[in-house]
Amino acid sequence: MIRKASIGDLDSIWVIYAERFDSYDSDDIKYTLDDLRWYLENDAAIMLVYDVGEIAGFVFGYNLGIWGYMEHIVVSAKYRGNGYARELIERFVNHNDDWRIVEACHYTEMKNMSSFFKSIGWRDGLVDTRWIYTIPNDK
Ligand SMILES: CC(C)(COP(=O)(O)OP(=O)(O)OC[C@H]1O[C@@H](n2cnc3c(N)ncnc32)[C@H](O)[C@@H]1OP(=O)(O)O)[C@@H](O)C(=O)NCCC(=O)NCCS
Repeated sequence: MIRKASIGDLDSIWVIYAERFDSYDSDDIKYTLDDLRWYLENDAAIMLVYDVGEIAGFVFGYNLGIWGYMEHIVVSAKYRGNGYARELIERFVNHNDDWRIVEACHYTEMKNMSSFFKSIGWRDGLVDTRWIYTIPNDK
């Protein structure tokens, strides 16, 4: 079942997130364990888990008012190919009635899934880079 993540899920989420802790992101935009804890404790992001007795996957995104942003979707390697990402994406998209548009990360896997995304009504946003500003420590 899909449910809202709680602080008790932190360690499982971290293990799954770390599985995709790969080369795509520069170090300063990788979430740390403390970052994920902060989001869970402050209820500042949307975190949904796919619970099959253990956490099989999770989706992590933001409610930006009329805009939704799906930052990460990860299904643990041993649970892939069971439609869990499809269900998580569907639940995420329907998370907020106010959303007019939902944007998603555009990593290699998501590009590889383009025929799936198109089949569920998404389109290529034609953006695959971002500008990043890191707040200085001494501001
Ligand atoms: C991408 C990922 C979330 C897919 O999870 P999953 O649970 O295996 O996906 P599903 O079983 O729900 O598949 C959904 C659809 O995507 C397709 N799909 C899944 N992985 C695919 C891939 N690597 N290439 C092409 N299509 C893929 C499936 O065929 C399915 O389409 P269909 O229903 O039309 O057959 C999973 O592979 C993953 O966690 N990857 C590493 C993390 C990552 O890179 N996440 C994206 C960036 S945040």
